[in-house]
Amino acid sequence: MQDNPFILEPFKSKEYFCDREQETEEIIRNILNGRNTTLISPRRLGKTGLIFRVFEEMRERDLPYETIYADISDTLSLEAFITVLSEAVVAKLKRQQRITAFFKSLRSIRPLLGLDPMTGSPQVSFSFVDDDQKQSTLTDILSYLENYPQKVVLAIDEFQQIREYEGVNMEAVLRKHIQHLHHVRFIFCGSKKHTMTDMFTNAKKPFYESTSFCYLTKLPEPVYADFIRAQFAQAGKTIDEESLAYILAWTRVHTYYTQRLCNEVFSLSGSKVDRTEIHSVDSGFRTGKVPGNPEAHYPRPMEDAGSYCERRKRHANNLFFFSFKIRHYIRPDGFAECQGLD
Ligand SMILES: Nc1ncnc2c1ncn2[C@@H]1O[C@H](COP(=O)(O)OP(=O)(O)OP(=O)(O)O)[C@@H](O)[C@H]1O
Ligand SMILES: [Mg+2]
Repeated sequence: MQDNPFILEPFKSKEYFCDREQETEEIIRNILNGRNTTLISPRRLGKTGLIFRVFEEMRERDLPYETIYADISDTLSLEAFITVLSEAVVAKLKRQQRITAFFKSLRSIRPLLGLDPMTGSPQVSFSFVDDDQKQSTLTDILSYLENYPQKVVLAIDEFQQIREYEGVNMEAVLRKHIQHLHHVRFIFCGSKKHTMTDMFTNAKKPFYESTSFCYLTKLPEPVYADFIRAQFAQAGKTIDEESLAYILAWTRVHTYYTQRLCNEVFSLSGSKVDRTEIHSVDSGFRTGKVPGNPEAHYPRPMEDAGSYCERRKRHANNLFFFSFKIRHYIRPDGFAECQGLD
């Protein structure tokens, strides 16, 4: 069976990734010129995908960098940060010998290595006795990267999360280390615009003016339309212009929802895609029911729409007499207007 070309994970390969060429170039240029990048966008527009697109492009151009990705969204402490960072490093090292060398470079502690039984990815665990040991381990990990045989790009996703750590000014701790690194370039990525902007533009904050900003906005509509048309054509299907315009108007060109709708339309359609098929899918989105599968339910788009929209949703549920205001934020078809960030 033909692979569905409308991916729902952040990245597979550039064939399935629409555009972002300018942003890819910009971030690579930052890296090559010794600049760190702050990458910001509303939720689910494609930040994580873009990071992996940048990594792929760097590999294809044979740029002599090791690329490391750490998602710190689930971390709540310096210890958890160190653990996630170590796992990201170990995932790159792969060979036992190199992993042992990495662990030996941590002078004050010997971590344990295991495998996640579900995903098979490496799990590192530390038993820290005090804060000093944590701080020195972080220093050792970063100096390991600084002395890595190649230069390193370290992308830290959901970076705003460091503000949630209790008992440590993580911004100050990281900034202190990062400013001394010459062989490690950073991509700090996050969707909470207010927090991210405060971290990097507030003169009182440690990261003030230390990075180049890359704001990701929606994909240009004609470019996304070309991409969708081409993906259908590649699979021997045609989609008419009316349907294309309808999809992009309905999703308001929001990346995730466009992918999601196109993924469904692709899976249900024959060789010609027209409004009839799209209608059966989009009415499914409205009611939550998946066509042809009475047991299954679509996730409600509102639940994915980020905290700003969630607040609006709560208003809508609890305070129906404010509904005249809410109409500005929630479309009649249930989609959230998701321009806001925090
Ligand atoms: N350029 C693209 N081409 C095609 N699909 C994309 C593109 N960018 C993102 N997507 C789709 O949008 C979804 C969300 O992308 P991604 O997870 O990268 O967004 P994000 O901004 O990191 O979201 P979050 O804020 O939730 O972390 C992906 O799962 C993928 O389906
Ligand atoms: Mg992401």
